[in-house]
Amino acid sequence: MAFFTKKEAVPPVAPEQLPKHVGFIMDGNGRWAKKRGMPRGFGHIEGGKVYKKIMTYCRDIGIPYASFYVFSTENWSRSQEEINGIFKLMREYLDDVQSFKHEGVRWLVVGDKSKFPQDIQERMTKLEEETRDNDRLTSIMCCNYGGRNELAHSAREIAELVKKGELEPEDITEDTINAHLYTAGIPDVDLVIRPSGELRLSNFLIWQCAYAEYYFTNILWPDFTTDDLDKALIDFAGRGRRFGGAE
Ligand code: IPE
Ligand code: IPE
Ligand code: MG
Repeated sequence: MAFFTKKEAVPPVAPEQLPKHVGFIMDGNGRWAKKRGMPRGFGHIEGGKVYKKIMTYCRDIGIPYASFYVFSTENWSRSQEEINGIFKLMREYLDDVQSFKHEGVRWLVVGDKSKFPQDIQERMTKLEEETRDNDRLTSIMCCNYGGRNELAHSAREIAELVKKGELEPEDITEDTINAHLYTAGIPDVDLVIRPSGELRLSNFLIWQCAYAEYYFTNILWPDFTTDDLDKALIDFAGRGRRFGGAE
Protein backbone atom coordinates (compact mmCIF):
# COMPACT_ATOMS: atom_id res chain seq x y z
CA MET A 1 0.00 0.00 0.00
CA ALA A 2 1.51 3.33 -1.02
CA PHE A 3 0.26 5.78 1.55
CA PHE A 4 2.83 8.45 1.85
CA THR A 5 2.94 11.62 -0.22
CA LYS A 6 6.34 12.75 -1.40
CA LYS A 7 5.38 16.35 -2.18
CA GLU A 8 7.15 18.79 0.09
CA ALA A 9 4.82 20.01 2.82
CA VAL A 10 5.13 23.53 4.16
CA PRO A 11 3.74 24.36 7.61
CA PRO A 12 1.12 27.15 7.49
CA VAL A 13 2.71 28.94 10.48
CA ALA A 14 6.22 29.32 11.86
CA PRO A 15 7.53 25.99 13.20
CA GLU A 16 7.64 27.29 16.79
CA GLN A 17 3.92 28.13 16.55
CA LEU A 18 2.95 24.57 15.73
CA PRO A 19 1.38 22.43 18.45
CA LYS A 20 3.59 19.61 19.70
CA HIS A 21 0.64 17.29 20.11
CA VAL A 22 -2.59 17.37 18.11
CA GLY A 23 -5.52 15.10 18.94
CA PHE A 24 -7.98 14.15 16.21
CA ILE A 25 -11.48 12.90 17.01
CA MET A 26 -12.11 11.25 13.66
CA ASP A 27 -15.89 11.66 13.64
CA GLY A 28 -18.57 11.71 10.95
CA ASN A 29 -17.72 8.58 8.96
CA GLY A 30 -21.22 7.14 9.33
CA ARG A 31 -23.00 10.32 8.26
CA TRP A 32 -20.62 10.70 5.33
CA ALA A 33 -21.56 7.22 4.09
CA LYS A 34 -25.27 7.72 4.76
CA LYS A 35 -25.31 10.88 2.64
CA ARG A 36 -24.11 8.71 -0.23
CA GLY A 37 -26.60 5.90 0.41
CA MET A 38 -23.74 3.63 1.44
CA PRO A 39 -23.27 1.42 4.53
CA ARG A 40 -21.47 2.98 7.50
CA GLY A 41 -18.44 0.78 6.89
CA PHE A 42 -17.80 2.62 3.65
CA GLY A 43 -17.32 5.80 5.68
CA HIS A 44 -14.80 4.05 7.92
CA ILE A 45 -12.80 2.94 4.87
CA GLU A 46 -12.66 6.52 3.58
CA GLY A 47 -11.92 7.77 7.09
CA GLY A 48 -8.94 5.42 7.27
CA LYS A 49 -7.49 6.93 4.10
CA VAL A 50 -7.86 10.40 5.59
CA TYR A 51 -6.03 9.21 8.72
CA LYS A 52 -3.06 8.27 6.54
CA LYS A 53 -3.03 11.59 4.72
CA ILE A 54 -3.37 13.72 7.83
CA MET A 55 -0.88 11.67 9.83
CA THR A 56 1.67 11.92 7.02
CA TYR A 57 1.12 15.65 6.73
CA CYS A 58 1.63 16.12 10.48
CA ARG A 59 4.92 14.27 10.15
CA ASP A 60 6.00 16.29 7.14
CA ILE A 61 5.33 19.71 8.64
CA GLY A 62 7.06 18.82 11.91
CA ILE A 63 4.34 18.00 14.44
CA PRO A 64 5.96 15.36 16.66
CA TYR A 65 2.85 13.80 18.26
CA ALA A 66 -0.58 13.14 16.77
CA SER A 67 -3.34 11.17 18.51
CA PHE A 68 -6.23 9.61 16.66
CA TYR A 69 -9.46 8.39 18.22
CA VAL A 70 -10.01 5.06 16.47
CA PHE A 71 -12.46 3.21 18.71
CA SER A 72 -13.86 4.28 22.06
CA THR A 73 -14.83 2.19 25.08
CA GLU A 74 -18.40 3.24 24.21
CA ASN A 75 -18.23 2.13 20.57
CA TRP A 76 -18.86 -1.52 21.53
CA SER A 77 -22.54 -0.60 21.55
CA ARG A 78 -22.50 -0.50 17.73
CA SER A 79 -23.72 -3.38 15.55
CA GLN A 80 -21.49 -6.44 15.28
CA GLU A 81 -21.41 -5.88 11.54
CA GLU A 82 -19.96 -2.39 11.95
CA ILE A 83 -17.47 -3.56 14.59
CA ASN A 84 -16.30 -6.43 12.35
CA GLY A 85 -15.77 -3.93 9.52
CA ILE A 86 -13.64 -1.78 11.82
CA PHE A 87 -11.61 -4.85 12.89
CA LYS A 88 -11.00 -5.72 9.23
CA LEU A 89 -9.71 -2.21 8.57
CA MET A 90 -7.53 -2.30 11.69
CA ARG A 91 -5.91 -5.51 10.47
CA GLU A 92 -5.14 -3.90 7.11
CA TYR A 93 -3.41 -0.93 8.68
CA LEU A 94 -1.65 -2.98 11.32
CA ASP A 95 -0.24 -5.26 8.65
CA ASP A 96 1.31 -2.33 6.80
CA VAL A 97 4.40 -2.59 8.98
CA GLN A 98 6.87 -1.84 6.20
CA SER A 99 5.53 1.57 5.23
CA PHE A 100 5.29 2.80 8.81
CA LYS A 101 8.70 1.39 9.61
CA HIS A 102 10.44 3.04 6.69
CA GLU A 103 8.62 6.35 6.87
CA GLY A 104 9.76 7.39 10.32
CA VAL A 105 6.43 6.83 12.07
CA ARG A 106 6.33 5.36 15.55
CA TRP A 107 3.02 3.66 16.27
CA LEU A 108 1.63 3.51 19.77
CA VAL A 109 -1.68 1.96 20.71
CA VAL A 110 -3.32 3.37 23.83
CA GLY A 111 -6.39 1.90 25.46
CA ASP A 112 -7.39 -1.50 26.80
CA LYS A 113 -6.10 -3.81 24.07
CA SER A 114 -7.26 -6.95 25.87
CA LYS A 115 -10.82 -6.63 24.52
CA PHE A 116 -9.68 -7.05 20.90
CA PRO A 117 -9.40 -10.44 19.16
CA GLN A 118 -6.06 -12.12 19.89
CA ASP A 119 -4.69 -11.66 16.36
CA ILE A 120 -5.34 -7.91 16.48
CA GLN A 121 -3.56 -7.64 19.84
CA GLU A 122 -0.57 -9.46 18.36
CA ARG A 123 -0.56 -7.24 15.28
CA MET A 124 -0.66 -4.15 17.52
CA THR A 125 2.31 -5.34 19.57
CA LYS A 126 4.26 -6.24 16.43
CA LEU A 127 3.73 -2.84 14.80
CA GLU A 128 4.64 -1.04 18.02
CA GLU A 129 7.83 -3.06 18.34
CA GLU A 130 8.83 -2.71 14.69
CA THR A 131 8.42 1.07 14.74
CA ARG A 132 9.74 1.70 18.26
CA ASP A 133 12.93 3.49 17.08
CA ASN A 134 11.21 5.85 14.63
CA ASP A 135 11.31 9.46 15.73
CA ARG A 136 9.73 11.76 13.17
CA LEU A 137 6.14 11.35 14.32
CA THR A 138 4.50 9.36 17.07
CA SER A 139 1.08 8.26 15.85
CA ILE A 140 -0.94 7.51 18.97
CA MET A 141 -3.88 5.28 18.14
CA CYS A 142 -6.65 5.33 20.74
CA CYS A 143 -8.21 1.87 20.46
CA ASN A 144 -10.81 0.71 22.94
CA TYR A 145 -9.81 3.93 24.59
CA GLY A 146 -11.79 5.88 27.17
CA GLY A 147 -10.39 8.63 29.37
CA ARG A 148 -12.28 7.40 32.42
CA ASN A 149 -11.14 3.84 31.81
CA GLU A 150 -7.56 5.12 31.57
CA LEU A 151 -7.81 6.98 34.88
CA ALA A 152 -9.24 3.87 36.57
CA HIS A 153 -6.35 1.86 35.10
CA SER A 154 -3.84 4.37 36.47
CA ALA A 155 -5.52 4.29 39.90
CA ARG A 156 -5.39 0.48 39.98
CA GLU A 157 -1.67 0.42 39.19
CA ILE A 158 -0.96 3.03 41.87
CA ALA A 159 -3.09 1.14 44.41
CA GLU A 160 -0.99 -1.99 43.76
CA LEU A 161 2.19 -0.05 44.60
CA VAL A 162 0.61 1.23 47.81
CA LYS A 163 -0.53 -2.28 48.70
CA LYS A 164 3.00 -3.61 48.21
CA GLY A 165 4.35 -0.85 50.46
CA GLU A 166 6.30 0.76 47.62
CA LEU A 167 4.41 4.05 47.72
CA GLU A 168 2.82 6.16 50.46
CA PRO A 169 -0.64 7.62 49.68
CA GLU A 170 0.58 11.10 50.59
CA ASP A 171 3.28 10.81 47.92
CA ILE A 172 0.73 10.41 45.12
CA THR A 173 0.92 13.49 42.92
CA GLU A 174 -0.32 14.53 39.49
CA ASP A 175 2.96 13.19 38.13
CA THR A 176 2.23 9.78 39.67
CA ILE A 177 -1.15 9.60 37.95
CA ASN A 178 0.42 10.79 34.69
CA ALA A 179 3.15 8.16 34.89
CA HIS A 180 0.54 5.39 35.04
CA LEU A 181 -1.60 6.58 32.15
CA TYR A 182 -1.43 4.69 28.84
CA THR A 183 0.18 7.87 27.45
CA ALA A 184 2.99 8.07 30.06
CA GLY A 185 5.90 10.00 28.61
CA ILE A 186 3.85 11.74 25.91
CA PRO A 187 3.31 15.50 26.24
CA ASP A 188 -0.16 16.89 26.91
CA VAL A 189 -2.45 17.58 23.97
CA ASP A 190 -2.13 21.17 22.74
CA LEU A 191 -4.88 21.15 20.14
CA VAL A 192 -7.96 18.93 19.76
CA ILE A 193 -9.63 18.87 16.36
CA ARG A 194 -13.13 17.47 16.10
CA PRO A 195 -14.88 17.46 12.76
CA SER A 196 -18.54 16.50 12.11
CA GLY A 197 -20.17 19.34 14.04
CA GLU A 198 -20.28 17.64 17.45
CA LEU A 199 -19.10 19.92 20.25
CA ARG A 200 -17.88 17.40 22.78
CA LEU A 201 -14.87 15.38 23.88
CA SER A 202 -16.59 11.97 24.07
CA ASN A 203 -14.14 10.64 26.68
CA PHE A 204 -11.07 11.43 24.54
CA LEU A 205 -7.79 11.97 26.46
CA ILE A 206 -9.62 13.86 29.18
CA TRP A 207 -6.61 14.19 31.50
CA GLN A 208 -4.20 15.09 28.69
CA CYS A 209 -6.57 17.73 27.26
CA ALA A 210 -6.97 19.66 30.52
CA TYR A 211 -5.34 22.73 28.93
CA ALA A 212 -5.82 21.96 25.25
CA GLU A 213 -7.24 24.38 22.71
CA TYR A 214 -10.29 23.12 20.79
CA TYR A 215 -11.11 23.42 17.13
CA PHE A 216 -14.49 22.28 15.85
CA THR A 217 -15.65 22.12 12.25
CA ASN A 218 -18.78 20.82 10.51
CA ILE A 219 -16.74 18.99 7.89
CA LEU A 220 -17.13 15.21 8.16
CA TRP A 221 -13.87 13.33 8.78
CA PRO A 222 -13.75 11.61 5.34
CA ASP A 223 -13.86 15.10 3.76
CA PHE A 224 -11.19 16.56 6.07
CA THR A 225 -8.12 17.74 4.12
CA THR A 226 -4.67 19.08 4.83
CA ASP A 227 -6.06 22.55 3.98
CA ASP A 228 -8.59 22.12 6.78
CA LEU A 229 -5.77 21.16 9.11
CA ASP A 230 -3.84 24.25 8.01
CA LYS A 231 -6.86 26.39 8.98
CA ALA A 232 -6.95 24.79 12.42
CA LEU A 233 -3.21 25.33 12.88
CA ILE A 234 -3.45 29.00 11.88
CA ASP A 235 -6.33 29.41 14.32
CA PHE A 236 -4.31 27.68 17.05
CA ALA A 237 -1.31 29.94 16.43
CA GLY A 238 -3.52 32.97 17.12
CA ARG A 239 -4.83 31.74 20.47
CA GLY A 240 -3.58 33.29 23.70
CA ARG A 241 -2.74 30.38 25.99
CA ARG A 242 -2.39 31.53 29.56
CA PHE A 243 -2.41 28.30 31.63
CA GLY A 244 -4.01 30.20 34.48
CA GLY A 245 -1.61 33.12 34.37
CA ALA A 246 -2.43 36.78 33.64
CA GLU A 247 -1.41 38.86 30.65
C1 IPE B 1 -16.30 7.95 13.86
O1 IPE B 1 -17.34 8.09 12.94
C2 IPE B 1 -15.64 6.61 13.78
C3 IPE B 1 -15.89 5.73 14.93
C4 IPE B 1 -16.54 6.08 16.00
C5 IPE B 1 -15.36 4.38 14.87
P1 IPE B 1 -18.81 7.68 13.33
O2 IPE B 1 -19.01 6.24 12.96
O3 IPE B 1 -19.12 8.02 14.72
O4 IPE B 1 -19.66 8.59 12.35
P2 IPE B 1 -21.03 9.30 12.69
O5 IPE B 1 -20.82 10.15 13.89
O6 IPE B 1 -22.04 8.22 12.93
O7 IPE B 1 -21.33 10.11 11.46
C1 IPE C 1 -15.98 9.40 19.21
O1 IPE C 1 -16.98 9.46 18.27
C2 IPE C 1 -15.19 8.13 19.05
C3 IPE C 1 -14.36 8.05 17.85
C4 IPE C 1 -14.21 8.99 16.96
C5 IPE C 1 -13.63 6.81 17.70
P1 IPE C 1 -18.45 8.93 18.59
O2 IPE C 1 -19.23 9.10 17.34
O3 IPE C 1 -18.41 7.56 19.16
O4 IPE C 1 -18.92 9.94 19.72
P2 IPE C 1 -20.39 10.36 20.17
O5 IPE C 1 -21.15 9.10 20.44
O6 IPE C 1 -21.00 11.13 19.05
O7 IPE C 1 -20.19 11.22 21.38
MG1 MG D 1 -19.80 9.70 15.60
